[in-house]
Amino acid sequence: MSNAGFPVQRLRRLRMTPTLRSMVRETSLRVTDLIYPLFVLHGSRVKAEVSSMPGIYNLSVDYIVEEARAVRDLGIPAVLLFGIPKTKDDMASEAYDPKGIVQQAVKAIKKATPDLVVITDVCLCAYTANGHCGIVRDGKILNDPTLEVLAKVALSHAQAGADIVAPSDMMDGHVRAIRKKLDEKGSPDVAIMSYAAKYASAFYGPFRDAAQATPAFGDRRSHQMDIANAREAELEILLDIKEGADIVMVKPALAYLDIIYRIRQRVLQPLAAYSVSGEYALIKAAAQQGWLDEEQIVLEWLTAIKRAGADLILTYFAKAVASKIA
Ligand code: PBG
Repeated sequence: MSNAGFPVQRLRRLRMTPTLRSMVRETSLRVTDLIYPLFVLHGSRVKAEVSSMPGIYNLSVDYIVEEARAVRDLGIPAVLLFGIPKTKDDMASEAYDPKGIVQQAVKAIKKATPDLVVITDVCLCAYTANGHCGIVRDGKILNDPTLEVLAKVALSHAQAGADIVAPSDMMDGHVRAIRKKLDEKGSPDVAIMSYAAKYASAFYGPFRDAAQATPAFGDRRSHQMDIANAREAELEILLDIKEGADIVMVKPALAYLDIIYRIRQRVLQPLAAYSVSGEYALIKAAAQQGWLDEEQIVLEWLTAIKRAGADLILTYFAKAVASKIA
């Protein structure tokens, strides 16, 4: 490092023109970094805007296919699917029903846009009557009995044609259970993107409107991580990698850039960051008031997530930014 100092050093020299700035830019946001979340529900010609997420919709399978084509045409390589089931029960049975809503959507998307990577969220919270991520007995979310159900869900997604399954439940041992099931039942090439360091965050509020998955009692603190912990994120990530995770994720993104940075220094696997529903809602609300420039803020926000070390970003802004960075 040169320490000649001013006036020999003038850092502004390389900031003088857009071309110079582009030459020394250290981080670039590419359309291939993006993953777009989609919410699918039963019915046909259903398109219902999520109240707390303007511009984001619950879509029936016919519309999901149209949306998948639009996403592909923008050059976005992947979607993440969430299902809103017809029935909710104690065993989350629609979650692993071969005719369940996610399974139908995966098949339809893979048929219409075979090159689009389809990732499915694997969790029980939208499918259990009580809105919890696992099997509940006596008011307690049970870890080990949930693993078998999650593995069944992941397998049914794989058999429908999913390229990647993404367990978001935060049960201990979930990646191992899913990997084992996929390998035993003939889906060894289906990858696992683990929501490995997922915090018990208030930033998921709007998502729970979108996916209709608010817990009927209690909260998610007995399985999701304490927001105050950072070392524990490393433990979670290293364990999931040991169990077979191909891609690991930190979630939420923006208030957790230190975690993204820390994990990037620690592991070799691709790292994803989920810029969650609450992050989307914050920007949208301020932009609607005319208080912030949405386009500029989104680029700054996503660039920061990449600069911290994420390879992939799950964001509800994927479609909006794709054309700006292509
Ligand atoms: C399911 C799940 C949640 C999110 C992704 N998968 C909600 C939660 O854990 O409560 C949040 C996504 C978002 O807020 O955008 N467990």
